[in-house]
Amino acid sequence: MALYRAAGGALVATGGAPLVEIGSWCGRSTLYLAAAAVEHDAVVFAVDHHHGSEEQQPGWEWHDPTLVDPATGVVDTLPSFRHTVRQAGLEATVVAVVGDSATVARHWSTPCALVFVDGGHGSTPAHADYEGWAPQVASGGLLAIHDVFPDPADGGRPPYEIYLRALSDGFADVSATGCLRVLRRSTNSPDAGEAPESASAASTTAAAL
Ligand SMILES: C[S@@+](CC[C@H](N)C(=O)[O-])C[C@H]1O[C@@H](n2cnc3c(N)ncnc32)[C@H](O)[C@@H]1O
Repeated sequence: MALYRAAGGALVATGGAPLVEIGSWCGRSTLYLAAAAVEHDAVVFAVDHHHGSEEQQPGWEWHDPTLVDPATGVVDTLPSFRHTVRQAGLEATVVAVVGDSATVARHWSTPCALVFVDGGHGSTPAHADYEGWAPQVASGGLLAIHDVFPDPADGGRPPYEIYLRALSDGFADVSATGCLRVLRRSTNSPDAGEAPESASAASTTAAAL
């Protein structure tokens, strides 16, 4: 619900720029973003390669064998994701972008109302997501980061490290709800993207659900 509320506020602040999610898995958090998008006639671009993060691979804590494609032997959450979005009646609102988030970021140019970072939690993917996507947040828009744990006893470091980077890069704390941190890009930040006049413009290759 904190994510839903943040997304609604960001859509108002930016005039309906797109919402972007990095890391969708089976679509749970996507639905909360999409619920806000529907209310503001906006869209959610859900970026995921759908092969799972390190901790979701066989032998790791968060592995789910039911999500392995029997034909390839590889984790594939795209069918579950599509099912989640279809069942919720949100196919017109959610656009799946299937690919590596850093690659997508390199070709992305539309300022975003909100970017939700919940992709790979290792050091390399988390910092790559920050570097690729923090600059895509529109002036006055929001950056949301999941699994931020100031105390190392509670969880991994990389999401906390990128949260600290955001603060030092001029983002300001908006809210902390559990391990979700929401930060706002200053409206006078020199490299802040300008929100587009239309939320429908997105210059990236995307597969519509
Ligand atoms: C923790 S799960 C996301 C959970 C989801 N946000 C939710 O709350 O339901 C992390 C997701 O990030 C994706 N992911 C990890 N590294 C990625 C990368 N480099 N590019 C695209 N997706 C990635 C994984 O495939 C996985 O689905």
